[in-house]
Amino acid sequence: MVLANRITTMQESVTLASGARAKALKDEGRDILNLTLGQPDFQTPQLIKEKAIEAIANDQVSFYTPASGLPELKDAIATYMKTFYGYEVTRDQILAATGAKFVLYAYFMTVLNPGDEVIIPTPYWVSYADQVKLAEGTPVFVETSEETRFKATVSQLEAARTEKTKVFLLNSPSNPTGMVYTNEELLAIGDWALEHDILILSDDIYGRLVYNDNTFVPISSLSEALRQQTMVVNGVAKTYSMTGWRVGFAVGDPELIAGMSKMLSQTTSNLTTVAQYAAIEALAGDQTAAEEMRRAFEERLNTIYPLLAAVPGFEVIKPEGAFYLFPNVKKAMEMKGFEDVTDFTNDILEKAGVALVTGAGFGMPYSLRMSYATDLETLKAAISRLQDYMAS
Ligand SMILES: Cc1ncc(COP(=O)(O)O)c(C=O)c1O
Repeated sequence: MVLANRITTMQESVTLASGARAKALKDEGRDILNLTLGQPDFQTPQLIKEKAIEAIANDQVSFYTPASGLPELKDAIATYMKTFYGYEVTRDQILAATGAKFVLYAYFMTVLNPGDEVIIPTPYWVSYADQVKLAEGTPVFVETSEETRFKATVSQLEAARTEKTKVFLLNSPSNPTGMVYTNEELLAIGDWALEHDILILSDDIYGRLVYNDNTFVPISSLSEALRQQTMVVNGVAKTYSMTGWRVGFAVGDPELIAGMSKMLSQTTSNLTTVAQYAAIEALAGDQTAAEEMRRAFEERLNTIYPLLAAVPGFEVIKPEGAFYLFPNVKKAMEMKGFEDVTDFTNDILEKAGVALVTGAGFGMPYSLRMSYATDLETLKAAISRLQDYMAS
């Protein structure tokens, strides 16, 4: 079987692959603590599930909906935007699709011509680069480090800019670092994007998951000009523990949204109808359960951060949002005689029974990602195993 080049050159999602590996070992009976997962460990809140059940009982879910989503869902998204972003949007600026991941793919397919460049700060979420390539664009990476708390600066962006630069991709709070851009940083980046007419793609999927004294500022909320320059991608997966429902949405320029809707009409047709009803409740209904889950993540972070920072050879900045820790393990690798972080991650899995994600998939050769979207007992046990592993 000769497969298409676009598939043979594509990388499999490392997060999904390491999750699958951990699960396979567990199924074999091995004692594995799985900290690879990019999803909350809670059940979807009851009120949301009930709305979905009600929609089924009321015969509302048997048929297709408009490709870009039910008008009622768009209105719920508009309510959400007013509440959490502080501005009004109309239905023609909104689209819902099968997860934020597919929204991103539809965006790249809609705006990129072959060779158009997308600036992506490193470390980056695993899927961005491959999606850009699928859409025949070119990812241009801007390397960040602990020095700037893993945030890209305007001078770095300017150094990466060419006449082919079309999009700047912003992910704040970031997967995998958990860092959140400040107001000032966003204003500086926004000025740069406006000056050079570079589109901003703002992946705000972790925007509601910020902790301690940190706040999430959406770049699209900073001025009318930035709102027009930006497409927001967001979804219900992380905030409402709804990864399985696959609901993502986009808010942006009506022409862009119409282009993306056309793409949806020829690919998925529409986001699963019952999931749309659940999302209406999530986005526009009672937010108590979402806040309870956020608090649980905050407590976990505050408990395990000092424990992880005390593991020999692990150097980690305290994250501000999302649900990942992203330690630099260069020293730990030296102590254990490893040069490749993927080999090191595999050794931890084999010898300590702790499943983590190699930083290589995020473009970082000396880091690994630990998800704290699991219960405190498991997290504490995992870090204690890391301690023993490093001491042995
Ligand atoms: C940064 C980032 N963007 C987008 C997504 C995709 O979210 P969804 O589950 O809605 O497709 C994820 C999920 O892991 C993510 O981490």
